[in-house]
Amino acid sequence: MPHLEISDLITVTDPLSGARMPVRRGDVVRRLDEAGDPRAARIVAGLPAGPDDVLDPLAVDRLMIGVHTELQRLSEELRIGERLVHVLDPLFEAIREIAGRRGRFRLVDIGSGLGYLVRWLASTGALGPNVELIGVDLDAALVAEADRLARAEGLDCRFVHGNAFDLPEIATVYVSTGVLHHFRGPALAEFFEAQADSQALAFCHFDIAATRLAPVGAWMFHRARMRHPLGRHDGVVSARRAHSDETLLRAATVPGIRPLLYEPKGLSNPFCTTLRPVLGIRPYLEDPLRQALGRSSRRLVGAEHLTRGGPPRHDAASWSASGAASGAGR
Ligand SMILES: C[S@@+](CC[C@H](N)C(=O)[O-])C[C@H]1O[C@@H](n2cnc3c(N)ncnc32)[C@H](O)[C@@H]1O
Repeated sequence: MPHLEISDLITVTDPLSGARMPVRRGDVVRRLDEAGDPRAARIVAGLPAGPDDVLDPLAVDRLMIGVHTELQRLSEELRIGERLVHVLDPLFEAIREIAGRRGRFRLVDIGSGLGYLVRWLASTGALGPNVELIGVDLDAALVAEADRLARAEGLDCRFVHGNAFDLPEIATVYVSTGVLHHFRGPALAEFFEAQADSQALAFCHFDIAATRLAPVGAWMFHRARMRHPLGRHDGVVSARRAHSDETLLRAATVPGIRPLLYEPKGLSNPFCTTLRPVLGIRPYLEDPLRQALGRSSRRLVGAEHLTRGGPPRHDAASWSASGAASGAGR
């Protein structure tokens, strides 16, 4: 049975035009019932809809902003900003080194939601003055709220409504938090391919670590911290949908990119690991990045780590076949 998140079903945006699509409540309830999730179906059945059974878009927007506000508290508690900077600061150090310490760079947060990460980076100045900060999201209501908050806080950052890969400006580094598990099947590889095909030098995507404890940890955390049943429901489903280390490294193995995981399963404490990043860097950045990371670079591993650690035989075979086991970025 597929695990479905309610928020993916009640907000549908055409990725090409950015237009909001009408969503029939009955259709969503049926999909959730068919997926074997009657509790989620009941949550959606309780949402307001018009006489034509189309979900009330304003009520859905209010709900999504409320849930993302609670999600922001979770990000604060998990110190997402600090954890991202722990990796991003050395990454920008490596990029500056390659660029001869000159130039302006641009960080693009894909699926920025209410923009917590971008706003935190802007308010702390953690990446230095020559990094422009942009958040992009397909959800117009979340972007409008992120922009309102940033203006009220007087922050130097921008939020754009649309597809992160259709920006007119070139990104130096793409980042995201809590977005990867939304991409299923071929869409995950396409997500990484789009970034490898762009002029970006690197990507760094934080998502839930697929440990056995993740769903139960997510249940306790969301139960304690989130008020709306939708947030509690989707929080646990996200942990169930988290991609394994093998899946992430395989999907991120695209031409021109050296895929790396920071703190993969074997190197981390399962009781503390919540979110951790998969990175993709242009191969010439690996040495400067490792130097900038110092001792922490031991926690940064490529596919060769998984093969040495003894993944299932078919995994080892497919790694070797793809050339990934050599560890060389292509
Ligand atoms: C679970 S939310 C994560 C929000 C935020 N990063 C956080 O941690 O609170 C995932 C978001 O990704 C957005 N999204 C997915 N694909 C996108 C794309 N190609 N471009 C822009 N936004 C995208 C969705 O609209 C959704 O708001």
